[in-house]
Amino acid sequence: MDTDLKVGFVGAGAMARALIAGVIRTGLYEPRQIAVNNRHDLEKLHGLQQEFGIRAAAGKADLHGAEVLVLAVKPKDMAQALEELVPHLRDGQLLVTVAAGIRTSFIEKRCGRPLAVVRAMPNLPSAVQAAATALAPGRYCQPQHLAVAEQLFRAVGETVTVAEDQLDAVTGLSGSGPAYVYYMIEGLEQAGATLGLEPEVARKLAVQTVFGAAKLLLQSGESPESLRQRVSSPGGTTVAALESLSSRGWNQALQQAVLRATQRARELGMA
Ligand SMILES: NC(=O)c1ccc[n+]([C@@H]2O[C@H](COP(=O)([O-])OP(=O)(O)OC[C@H]3O[C@@H](n4cnc5c(N)ncnc54)[C@H](OP(=O)(O)O)[C@@H]3O)[C@@H](O)[C@H]2O)c1
Repeated sequence: MDTDLKVGFVGAGAMARALIAGVIRTGLYEPRQIAVNNRHDLEKLHGLQQEFGIRAAAGKADLHGAEVLVLAVKPKDMAQALEELVPHLRDGQLLVTVAAGIRTSFIEKRCGRPLAVVRAMPNLPSAVQAAATALAPGRYCQPQHLAVAEQLFRAVGETVTVAEDQLDAVTGLSGSGPAYVYYMIEGLEQAGATLGLEPEVARKLAVQTVFGAAKLLLQSGESPESLRQRVSSPGGTTVAALESLSSRGWNQALQQAVLRATQRARELGMA
């Protein structure tokens, strides 16, 4: 058995790439301790091998020695990927799944042995090491397994741990969340253009405003409410804008959006 192998990836897509970049950048694993297997697209696999110096695994058998296996395939491909992987699993391995909507029980049932499974819900900014990831332990998961998964996802951003039945709400909030922020930025850009700003000027201002507001919130330790009040002088411009947003139901619209995404995640879930 290959004792030098620490982590094996099933799937060589965008999420695997983000995690590989993160764990190598932070020094959590060395490239030679990482192996990746892909289905058809060998160009993508060899691209990762060249870029990061990791090992390309020709088949699932080559992942047998890994302590951690990251299941980074689309939800629709998970059953097939597990069918191929299960004959090569061994006791004591940790399975980490990032597939949206696939419950730990779906994986546990197919493993044929009581393996620890952690389900993760990262989001798109994992590509720039700024993900918000929620982790949920499966039935056989011990604290040390969760700690390993936490280390893995800390390499691409911040993590929280929740019970698995809360992951649908996480999907509604932070999983789909980047799209809400982009939608807001699009609205700011359109408003800027309507008021005569050049498109690239409006975009630069809108993006930096969102980035700066989030950075200040993170670094100041203040609440969003208190920061909002700091820029809202009575009778001033911000108050006028916030009153306009509020009278059009901005807050309710956002809450409904998160609720709707959460319901949709529940409908799409596979146990
Ligand atoms: N990207 C994100 O920001 C994000 C955020 C949260 C969650 N996720 C979750 O992460 C998972 C992966 O997403 P992604 O964006 O990385 O998708 P992706 O870019 O499409 O990558 C999926 C990879 O899985 C491979 N694959 C499929 N079946 C396989 C099998 N049986 N054995 C080995 N490899 C197999 C595909 O290979 P081929 O190219 O050869 O078909 C493809 O390279 C999804 O379940 C998604 O829900 C992603």
